[in-house]
Amino acid sequence: MTVIAIDGPAASGKGTLARKLAAHFDFAHLDTGALYRAVGLLVLRSGGNPEKAEDAVAAAAKVADVNLDDPELRTESTGAAASKVAAIPEVRQILLEYQRSFAAHPPRGKKGAVLDGRDIGTVICPDADHKIFISADVETRAKRRFLELFGTQGTNEEYQKILAELRERDDRDMNRSTAPLKPAENAHLLDTTNSDIEAVFERALSLING
Ligand code: C5P
Repeated sequence: MTVIAIDGPAASGKGTLARKLAAHFDFAHLDTGALYRAVGLLVLRSGGNPEKAEDAVAAAAKVADVNLDDPELRTESTGAAASKVAAIPEVRQILLEYQRSFAAHPPRGKKGAVLDGRDIGTVICPDADHKIFISADVETRAKRRFLELFGTQGTNEEYQKILAELRERDDRDMNRSTAPLKPAENAHLLDTTNSDIEAVFERALSLING
C-alpha cells in the first residue's frame, strides 16, 4: 500500500495536484477538506453555530448523509464554516478514523491512496510514503480563486473580499491548537507562487519517483 499525503493552505492547488497524482498512479483520492465542509454545511443548514462544539459534533455524526458532490460544499461561506468546525477537537476525532481507514484500505481494491488536507502528513498518516506541503503566497491564491469564481468579470471589491476571507481562514487553520496547518518535518515543500499546475505536477512526480 502506498500513501501520498498532500497538505497546504486554502486555494494552494493541493486538490488539483492530488487528483492528478491519483489518476497517474491509479490510486484512490480523498479530499479530506470536503469532510469538514460537509460538517460545516450541515451546521449552517440546521441553523446552528459552527463554533459551538455541540452543534458541530451533532453534524459530524451525520457526515455520511452529505453528498460530497453538492456544489454548495465549494462556496467560501461553507469553507469558513468548515474551518470553524475543524478547530473543534471532537470533530477532528470523529473524522480521523474514516480518513485513516481510507488510507489503509483504499476503495475499489486500489493499491494506494492520495489524501489532501491540512494535517495528513502530521496527524492522519504520519507514516505516509510521500509527503508534500504545497503553498503559494496569499495574493496569488486569492487571484486564482477570484479567476475561478468570476473569470475576467470580477471587480476589485470582490477580489479584496476573497483575499480577506483567505487570510482569515489561513489564520484560523494555522493557529488552532489541535492539528494546526504546518508542514510535517519530513515533507517536501513545493511553492507554487510562480508555477502552473503542470509544472507542479512534474515536480511532485519527480519527488515521489525519487
Ligand atoms: O481544503 P478545503 O479548503 O476544502 O478545507 C476546508 C477547511 O477544512 C479548511 O479551511 C480547514 O479548516 C479544514 N480542514 C482541516 N483538515 C483537513 C482538511 C481540511 O482542518 N485535513
